[in-house]
Amino acid sequence: MALVRSVVLVVLALCAHPAMADETHGLEPTGTWDMQPVGTAPTPPMGWNSWNAFHLDLTEAGLIASAQVLVDGGFAALGYRTVNIDDGWWLKRRQGDGRLQVRTNVFPDAALAGGETSLRPWTDRLHAMGLKAGIYTDVGRNACSQAWSSDPATLPQGTRDEREVGLAGHVEQDIALYFATWNFDYIKVDGCGIAHYGADRHHVANGTFRALAPLINDTDPGQDDIPATRARYAEVRDALWRVRPRGDFVLSLCNWGTANVRDWGRQVGTMWRTSGDIDPTWGRMLHNFDSVATREFYAGPGHWNDPDMLEVGNGAFDGAHLTEARAHMALWAIEAAPLIIGTDLAAAPPAIRAILANPEVIAVDQDPAGHQGVIAYADDEREIVVKTLSVRGTKAVLLFNRLDEPTTIILTAQHLKMADSTPIALRDLTMRRDMGTMTSMRRFALAPHEALLLRAVGTPRLTHGWYLAELPGRIAVAADGIVVPQPDPTIHRMIDSHTGDTTGFGPRPTYYGWGAPRTDATVFSETLTLAGQPLRDGIGVEANSRLQLRAEGAFAHFAARVGVDDSTRGRKAGVRFEVWGDGHLLAKSAEQHFGVPPADISADITGVKVVELVARQVGADDGPVLATWGEARVD
Ligand code: GLA
Repeated sequence: MALVRSVVLVVLALCAHPAMADETHGLEPTGTWDMQPVGTAPTPPMGWNSWNAFHLDLTEAGLIASAQVLVDGGFAALGYRTVNIDDGWWLKRRQGDGRLQVRTNVFPDAALAGGETSLRPWTDRLHAMGLKAGIYTDVGRNACSQAWSSDPATLPQGTRDEREVGLAGHVEQDIALYFATWNFDYIKVDGCGIAHYGADRHHVANGTFRALAPLINDTDPGQDDIPATRARYAEVRDALWRVRPRGDFVLSLCNWGTANVRDWGRQVGTMWRTSGDIDPTWGRMLHNFDSVATREFYAGPGHWNDPDMLEVGNGAFDGAHLTEARAHMALWAIEAAPLIIGTDLAAAPPAIRAILANPEVIAVDQDPAGHQGVIAYADDEREIVVKTLSVRGTKAVLLFNRLDEPTTIILTAQHLKMADSTPIALRDLTMRRDMGTMTSMRRFALAPHEALLLRAVGTPRLTHGWYLAELPGRIAVAADGIVVPQPDPTIHRMIDSHTGDTTGFGPRPTYYGWGAPRTDATVFSETLTLAGQPLRDGIGVEANSRLQLRAEGAFAHFAARVGVDDSTRGRKAGVRFEVWGDGHLLAKSAEQHFGVPPADISADITGVKVVELVARQVGADDGPVLATWGEARVD
């Protein structure tokens, strides 16, 4: 009885806030939208962060100079409002009461009477400028700088315990300090403390830091402790909801795409990194871009894939590399990525400022529908990525030349899912000029590393309604059907920036996601094919998956042609396709099998708020069973 009562109490406690219940990934429809926001970010967060610009060389003057440009240069009016301090702001954790102390040689205004320190003067100053304030911490006991930097002048000081500046063991206290006492609006929570402090590390073995058995293994994802990593971050989320019950916060998860955060990030954070750190090189930028490019069903209003902060203005994207700088900006915009400027704005040349402040490019990123771009064409050199915008008949399209040679890209109406008999008006958003029209197709010459970001206005191919593949921001992957998470092999592998040489094996795929639902492709990037017939449109899933569509009563019909895809690995099992509306079964297919002609499935979804698409495996298990929601559409 006592056990039953304590279980009930735990359940009640977990349900205190909707986002606090740790949701399961079952196949059974819930009728409840799976993506309740964590914090508030209806469009991708925008702002500035100190890391890519200054790393640990922080000065209050340097930070304020960039903040001032945000205001005076019109950036804040365009949405770049949050000024984020990254690693390097802290001095120590005071023993006795555990309160964090600020590095006053960086923040002179933080020094209060009696030796106390506070970042409240800093946030007050930003707020008075009309800006918001972001702070940085780590989910473990120690930070990234402590694992990687050897410059004591920039690192936390004091005894081993004083140098434990991360959240572990202090979540409630630190979150209350940052959000109640200091009044921050945004927090980035890094993960080095749960990755780089194993007992075998030099800096732990020599007694500098306490050991913490790693939950994240940054070279072998198979060793990540996924539930424990998630639980650590969920504790931070729950503390934030307690301090800010109205949800006026942004929680940025920074565990670099590890621990299968792809799958749970939306339930724990406002945004989550999809890869390791960007750096200002072309290859690394491609790597980070690729880490979001096939994750379109995981982002949407309130929750965003984060390929890391911008390097526009730095290194291979500086004022001498404007083609690359424009491409980087366009790539982030088409993916609805958070736009966090990472350059010293006070020193940035006008051309760089103009790229960052291009209102037409920003409008693509910030489109209120919140759809991430989807890949319409890709080879190793060229890509076409299409993003549905909120005005019907309007799409943004990115034509991208990854190589350092010129190339040609032919864009078709088919790529845009537009009618090929009526004109499609095009505008170059980067250069801000109209480009006339195309009908069925048009050829574009692209310079090395060039990305053309176009707006296309035409007649949708579907006279009424949408292909679901056009609405990724309205879709949630409630269950992906993946039994054993696998690293994604399709992400560009750049020259290893840590060694630069070839003594090891080279970078190996490390981010889970291979096998997750895809737009117009199977989960393994193959052509959707049912009984010998290739399909241009549809969603590829693994069996035992459940997708949700946030319909909100906007549609009357759902229809699709469904079946086991010809490229399935497991050929013996059957799949039953089910359409649910607000928790009620509306339609189901007969059991489908490999090689059998597809079945038509349709349902009346009038007034339905949440449609759920379940592909349920029946019988034998001889490998992943690939199921195809061919031409899935709503009107
Ligand atoms: C990690 C993060 C970076 C930055 C540094 C600071 O590497 O991924 O974005 O915050 O730590 O040390």
